Amino acid sequence: MKSLVLNSQASIPMLGFGTWQLVGDTGIKAVAKALGVGYRHIDTADRYGNHKEISQAIELSSLKREDLFITTKIPNTLLSREDVFLSVDRYLQELNTNYIDLLLIHWPNKNIPIAETLGAMRTLKEQGKVKAIGVSNFTIHHLKDAKATGVEVTNNQIELHPTFNQKELREYCAANNIVVTAYSPLGRGQDIGLPLFQELVKKYNSSPAQVILNWILQLGCVAIPKSEY
Ligand SMILES: NC(=O)c1ccc[n+]([C@@H]2O[C@H](COP(=O)([O-])OP(=O)(O)OC[C@H]3O[C@@H](n4cnc5c(N)ncnc54)[C@H](OP(=O)(O)O)[C@@H]3O)[C@@H](O)[C@H]2O)c1
Repeated sequence: MKSLVLNSQASIPMLGFGTWQLVGDTGIKAVAKALGVGYRHIDTADRYGNHKEISQAIELSSLKREDLFITTKIPNTLLSREDVFLSVDRYLQELNTNYIDLLLIHWPNKNIPIAETLGAMRTLKEQGKVKAIGVSNFTIHHLKDAKATGVEVTNNQIELHPTFNQKELREYCAANNIVVTAYSPLGRGQDIGLPLFQELVKKYNSSPAQVILNWILQLGCVAIPKSEY
């Protein structure tokens, strides 16, 4: 799987496995299966409540930590300096690892200064607990505020799929060396049924999901589809 460089310490595989709502045994099985079919990039978040399931699936896989890329996200209620430090120490325990490849701010929060949150994340990077820093659900004006802090933000994870193509935000990210990750890349399964894809699957002899994911990768973005099966 091709990767995109985030910084000197981290490259993100362009296809990752989304894990929203994958909890309990279902979560362990789904992540173990994803690792079994070749995924090496797992996307999670504090809010998904499945760090432990992911850790168990990784243990079952016998894969080496250095062969995996784990993204997790801090909720927008835990963005003070102290909360960021406490949260990440907890994530490391739950995920049974000593570093997170990519740590994201899940959603912006205008009541907590972005410089405080990103400053704490930069400290974690200097300590080796985090390899790369990013954000999620940031619009252009949020990204400009983040840029003004001087902390290197390498990734913006945003909703992106054929019926929501985010052209302007993608262009801003490209011009500012921010890798875009497309969440809900299949439009939560809805875009798969569009008539256009029923046509394209005949032309390319593949499935609608494959056509959509290939389109996202060709835009130069990372995609993190989810499947329970
Ligand atoms: N940063 C954020 O705020 C944020 C927000 C939303 C999501 N995310 C991340 O993005 C990930 C993916 O987004 P998502 O879960 O919203 O939606 P998605 O990946 O766009 O769509 C998931 C749906 O598509 C179906 N599906 C998957 N592969 C398929 C295939 N090959 N053929 C037909 N149907 C298929 C799945 O059904 P089956 O399970 O039956 O296969 C599921 O119902 C999340 O899990 C999460 O990690 C991040």
